[in-house]
Amino acid sequence: MEDRIISANLMMEDQGMELSLRPRYLGEYIGQQQAKDNLKIYIEAAKQRKEALDHVLLYGPPGLGKTTLSNIIANELGVNVRTTSGPAIERPGDLAAILTNLQSGDVLFIDEVHRLHRTVEEVLYPAMEDFALDIIIGKGPSARSVRLDLPPFTLIGATTRAGLLSAPLRDRFGVVCRLEYYTNDELEFIVSRSADILQVEIVGEAAREIGMRSRGTPRIANRLLKRVRDFAQVVGDGIITLDIAQSALKQMQVDQLGLDQIDHKMLRSIILNFKGGPVGLDTIAATIGEESQTIEDVYEPYLLQIGFLQRTPRGRTVTPLAYQHLGLKPPAPPGSQATWEL
Ligand code: ADE
Repeated sequence: MEDRIISANLMMEDQGMELSLRPRYLGEYIGQQQAKDNLKIYIEAAKQRKEALDHVLLYGPPGLGKTTLSNIIANELGVNVRTTSGPAIERPGDLAAILTNLQSGDVLFIDEVHRLHRTVEEVLYPAMEDFALDIIIGKGPSARSVRLDLPPFTLIGATTRAGLLSAPLRDRFGVVCRLEYYTNDELEFIVSRSADILQVEIVGEAAREIGMRSRGTPRIANRLLKRVRDFAQVVGDGIITLDIAQSALKQMQVDQLGLDQIDHKMLRSIILNFKGGPVGLDTIAATIGEESQTIEDVYEPYLLQIGFLQRTPRGRTVTPLAYQHLGLKPPAPPGSQATWEL
């Protein structure tokens, strides 16, 4: 599952490339217009007041640029960024060490912020609200709490699961930005920009083709571009034409909408074994041999987004759109059968 070419999760092989392709300032960042417009104002206002920017929560599916955006915010503010993640901060002391090392106005980026340990989260509350660290000195009845001042800073929290954030933490973010899937136009632009940086020639139609098969996700678009570039180099003359892009993507078994074999298997299984549903998540999982959680977190979100799958109280249902895409005949809608005639 993890090595699906159309996985939105960061893979080892992406890391070097993502660094070189990442936009560094808001002006270079394509898409997410609403988030960008708002952030531009808040950043400018904070700079004018010479204050730290309010804490920012970025949420949305993986691969849409939460880390990129947090680095951009720090660049625009002209401050340092310290990057960590929820599960990496094991003890309250680890967070205290990070916080006391920040300089005035710095950005602290915490990825997967919904996975912070409860005890660590409690250290974060006074830090976010009052820029203060409450330290307990001593043990037992003689223990006392000492308050340490921290430099003003901006916490940027990122999560794919905003619903899992505790209410007290969520309430302490002054700015909340939801990142959306990218449009085909935006992805075409991103692929062209990335090809430019990688110094590979690509025709507009090929950039669009790669964009259209990237599931609304720049991380996937850049990964597909890299693989298609290999095909162009070995099979063609180095230029990414529409022909090369299409045959490379076919070879990689990524269809016109960015679905791969696993998506096809899941949809077909619901159609063939359960008449298109509704069928429970656990039943689907058992039938295709995957974990329910993996289906819910990894396979389902994009199929729901493009309207191929619906969640109903009685389980998952495949829509007529998906039947059409797979070249299958959708069942007749209820009530359309011949009626009894007298
Ligand atoms: N590369 C990855 N995401 C991008 C974005 N939103 N804009 C420009 N280049 C990108």
